[in-house]
Amino acid sequence: MSKSSHNSDYLLGVNQQELERLQFQHSVWGPVTKKFLDRIGVQKGWRCLDVGAGPGFVSIDLRETVGETGEVTALEPSEFYLDWLRKQTAEQKWKNVHCIQGVAEQASLPSHHYDLIFVRWVIAFDEGLSLYPHGGIWDKMPDIVRSYYRSGGGDAYVVARIPAIFKRCGLRLVDFTPTCLSGGPASGVMEWAHRFFSVHIPLMADKGVITRDQADALLADWNAHRQNPETLFFSPLVVDVAGVFQEKFRH
Ligand SMILES: C[S@@+](CC[C@H](N)C(=O)[O-])C[C@H]1O[C@@H](n2cnc3c(N)ncnc32)[C@H](O)[C@@H]1O
Repeated sequence: MSKSSHNSDYLLGVNQQELERLQFQHSVWGPVTKKFLDRIGVQKGWRCLDVGAGPGFVSIDLRETVGETGEVTALEPSEFYLDWLRKQTAEQKWKNVHCIQGVAEQASLPSHHYDLIFVRWVIAFDEGLSLYPHGGIWDKMPDIVRSYYRSGGGDAYVVARIPAIFKRCGLRLVDFTPTCLSGGPASGVMEWAHRFFSVHIPLMADKGVITRDQADALLADWNAHRQNPETLFFSPLVVDVAGVFQEKFRH
């Protein structure tokens, strides 16, 4: 999402409120990730790298799967998030969860070591995001979110380039599965969106991606939809993508 190695430049910020948003996000999207990891066939004893792990919600799930004989390494620029993960792993008395502070572009990592290199919500893709009934300023939101991610160095179309990148790196594409979650005002997915947009619409105005008046209008439109029992929110597509080196191909 950001190429910067400085936490202060990271678009979505690093703080307790964002940590709690990520935790809620994991409660909504964790089952999608779990199905993906089940399809890949992560097994006991695997060595896993969680890139841009944040507070390590997936690292913790991976540790549950790989057990005592495996290994999980969380690579993450934020010491704040890594400290949270260190605290959880100390409470569990896990000795095989490691933390590396750094960014993916610069981290020094062993080659041919990991059975799984996992990345979630670090590179973003913004197809599919929509809110019904249509007709208000919120219809512009997909373009606004793309501009917001671009302002932090992101590429909202990155997933379309991944199969070609895998090919160049000698990886065979074995999974490419888009998921869209949808629900009304009382659903987990709409609450997840609310926790993102109520914080980030004002920040989009701070960054000059939209004007203050647009931010106010977007929030008013969003809140009106939250009051309307006929509202349906469709999440952005989350695309699970997996590639394997031939010698690791287990199917
Ligand atoms: C939206 S959070 C997702 C956290 C976690 N992967 C999850 O699914 O809960 C994105 C994380 O990526 C980290 N990040 C941002 N730029 C990065 C980079 N260049 N290399 C590695 N991690 C990065 C951020 O610090 C943040 O913790």
